Amino acid sequence: MKVKTINTSEVNENSVRVVSIDDKDIAIFNVEGEYFAIDDMCSHAEASLAEGEVFDCKIECPLHGAEFDLKTGEAVTLPATKPVATYKITVEDEVICLEMEDNA
Ligand code: FES
Repeated sequence: MKVKTINTSEVNENSVRVVSIDDKDIAIFNVEGEYFAIDDMCSHAEASLAEGEVFDCKIECPLHGAEFDLKTGEAVTLPATKPVATYKITVEDEVICLEMEDNA
């Protein structure tokens, strides 16, 4: 199921916006013009990944410093071991759309 979120103008290059879809917070990153969407909640404990720092297409958790690959959601450094969910993005008429699983 494709879900429309924010306009591309709402997430400037090298910034992030959190959107809420079905009670789930999803962080949409713009990394040098490329968009990535991952679950905002760290897989290790309660921290918002959107508040972390991005480098080399990875996001560093602000709480304990685990790094996640923005493309795959894989936890690449400890203390996190589990991945975070990622979402496929398409841009239609400047609107960022996420491919979500259908819960129906
Ligand atoms: S809460 Fe993210 S690494 Fe611990």
